[in-house]
Amino acid sequence: MLPEILWKPQPSQCLMLTSSADEILFGGAKGGGKSEALLFGALRYIDRMGYKALIVRRTYPRLKELIGRAMCFKQLSGHYNKQEKTWKFPGGGSISFGHCQNPGDELNYQGHQYHYIGFDQVEEFTEEMFLVISACGRKADDIPVRIRATANPGGIGRIWVRKRWIQEKLPNVKYYTQGVVNGKPVKLSSMFIPSTVFDNKILLEHNPEYVLFLQNLPEKLKRMYLEGDFEAGDESDQLIEYRYIEKARTDPLQIPEVLHEATLGVDVARFGDDKTVFAFMENNVLQKIEEFEKKDIAEVAELLTDRIEAYKIKPENVGVDTVGLGAGVYDICRSRGLILTEIISGMKPLELKGDPFSYRNLRSQMLWRFRECLMKGEIKIGIDDDILKEEAIAVRYEISNERLIAIESKEEVKRRIGRSTNRLDAAVYAWFVREMKSYRKPHLY
Ligand SMILES: Nc1ncnc2c1ncn2[C@@H]1O[C@H](COP(=O)(O)OP(=O)(O)O)[C@@H](O)[C@H]1O
Ligand SMILES: [Mg+2]
Repeated sequence: MLPEILWKPQPSQCLMLTSSADEILFGGAKGGGKSEALLFGALRYIDRMGYKALIVRRTYPRLKELIGRAMCFKQLSGHYNKQEKTWKFPGGGSISFGHCQNPGDELNYQGHQYHYIGFDQVEEFTEEMFLVISACGRKADDIPVRIRATANPGGIGRIWVRKRWIQEKLPNVKYYTQGVVNGKPVKLSSMFIPSTVFDNKILLEHNPEYVLFLQNLPEKLKRMYLEGDFEAGDESDQLIEYRYIEKARTDPLQIPEVLHEATLGVDVARFGDDKTVFAFMENNVLQKIEEFEKKDIAEVAELLTDRIEAYKIKPENVGVDTVGLGAGVYDICRSRGLILTEIISGMKPLELKGDPFSYRNLRSQMLWRFRECLMKGEIKIGIDDDILKEEAIAVRYEISNERLIAIESKEEVKRRIGRSTNRLDAAVYAWFVREMKSYRKPHLY
């Protein structure tokens, strides 16, 4: 009698499972069989002593779903250790499951070594997480090292995911990166294999209602989840759409010796893991971003004084977020006679004649008006900064029937994307510090 077949790949899954590319993005639409292929692909060498595979998702609740699907590995005489989230097989191979929720968690993987690393929904990861965990793809035997990832359009990683596998590349074509190591030429190959629900004949047959569900989604979601269109990744409550950031790109102005009209936005780190950011603008063009790690308020004040003097920036054109540690920086500068402009995001919004909206607080007003000016082309971005872009598309807003605009707090965004939007905030302050002059202060009573 023939042995029972545990799992059989469908044609597009075959393409992904048999490809020799070092790195593959298998992706696009929902329901194409991406996770299944990723999971079962890990089994390939389990009969080899020392073979190690890792399957990761960004959060544990989502990982649990995959762990559940893997329970059928029992039929391969695997033994599952719940504590270590690892399957061990009689031939000596193993498959582990992991997650990487917060920035920095990726470092827990350092020093590990895997032949196969499968990132399910890689668009949920930051690029840094992907790179650090991918660096564990190493070996000392003849089993090949494979990095496999699945993705839907959207997610906080959409910019780096598109850049790495999709932009200016053809699907199903291998692209090579070349280098020389130890005097020998070395090539790394990578490929994007599209997948849609129409590749999944099993699902089409057993669950046609799901396809109907995808077909009835609103237009944008349909493009993302039915067609797997990576250009359609914006969310409906996203404050700043990706295309407006791209449209705002301009060549940087020649930085003159003295920035007479320059403004400077300062976002001072509030917590240990945050960074302090300076954003420089001249004529509404974002010119430069500087980022500093682990500086105390005295050091930040020093750096700031330095920049103000070097570029001859008027102190009133420097906008500092004085919530938390920023207040200390403001005070030190003040004691030196530099009266900067305070920006308190939680404060009441300012009054602007003819503004059709009202705002939950100053932060909502600043960010909303920043978005409006960006869309009108009144703000330009003169630097190519992927982190800034990633932050800009991450922020969400709500608008009520009474035209009240509420934008997520910094903490809310951080909880969702796992990082503070320091660069975006500094850029917004740099722009708003000039805008403020056309506003009236709200009545306090
Ligand atoms: N090769 C296969 N054999 C049997 N069922 C499959 C296979 N591939 C996918 N499926 C079924 O299709 C469903 C969707 O696949 P999944 O991998 O979850 O899709 P995706 O991750 O692309 O959204 C799964 O729940 C599974 O039941
Ligand atoms: Mg999936």
